[in-house]
Amino acid sequence: MLELRQFTKKYKDKLIFQEADFQAQSGEIVLLTSKSGKGKTTLLDIIAGLKTWEKGDYFYKGQTYLLEDDEAMSAFRSQSIAYIPQDFALIADYTVRENIVLPFLYSSKPYQAEAEIDRLLRTFDLEEVGDSKVRKISGGQKQRAAIIRGLVVNSPILLADEPTANLDEDNIQLVQELLLEQKEKGKIVIIASHDSRLQSIADQIYRIKNQKLIIETK
Ligand SMILES: Nc1ncnc2c1ncn2[C@@H]1O[C@H](COP(=O)(O)OP(=O)(O)O)[C@@H](O)[C@H]1O
Ligand SMILES: [Mg+2]
Repeated sequence: MLELRQFTKKYKDKLIFQEADFQAQSGEIVLLTSKSGKGKTTLLDIIAGLKTWEKGDYFYKGQTYLLEDDEAMSAFRSQSIAYIPQDFALIADYTVRENIVLPFLYSSKPYQAEAEIDRLLRTFDLEEVGDSKVRKISGGQKQRAAIIRGLVVNSPILLADEPTANLDEDNIQLVQELLLEQKEKGKIVIIASHDSRLQSIADQIYRIKNQKLIIETK
């Protein structure tokens, strides 16, 4: 289980979370939703250990992660986190395939994903652009490439920030199926999105309201 207890996050004087609570279990899809600008991306960044917070405790698998312990946090990140960011974070001068294998260069995990990458490129109709530079592909193709990169890392926690923002209905359906596949593997899947279509695959929905995380019933 992953848990943030009574955590507070500010940017200068701007309060984003105030003593908020968040939990996610293995084998569960958690949808984090709100209007834009309320803190969805901020929360994913905190969970990934990419942003610090002011107050509160972070627990994962019986271990407590402390704010000030950068080293433990970055080890946790490389072991446990796969992140599909809102802005894709693809390198424009690398090919789609080169971008997809990039996380393995920074991870302690062995690279055994060739067949899985081929399967996902086919699934997402990206085979033909696999060897094209990212600067030459469309926004929707970039979104799908970023999703594949997040899926093949095979980390126990998958974070996806607005993964359907640039996709058509057919591809949204595919993303839903692939996220369910990740859940079936026992991962913790946390999706930040204002797309209500993703509610159907969520086991738990949190809405950010008044700097708290409110559990919403489906
Ligand atoms: N690095 C930052 N410095 C200052 N303010 C930030 C920073 N990142 C985000 N914000 C602000 O925090 C709020 C929440 O942002 P964000 O987490 O991106 O929201 P969401 O993903 O829900 O749209 C916004 O008002 C945004 O402008
Ligand atoms: Mg965001």
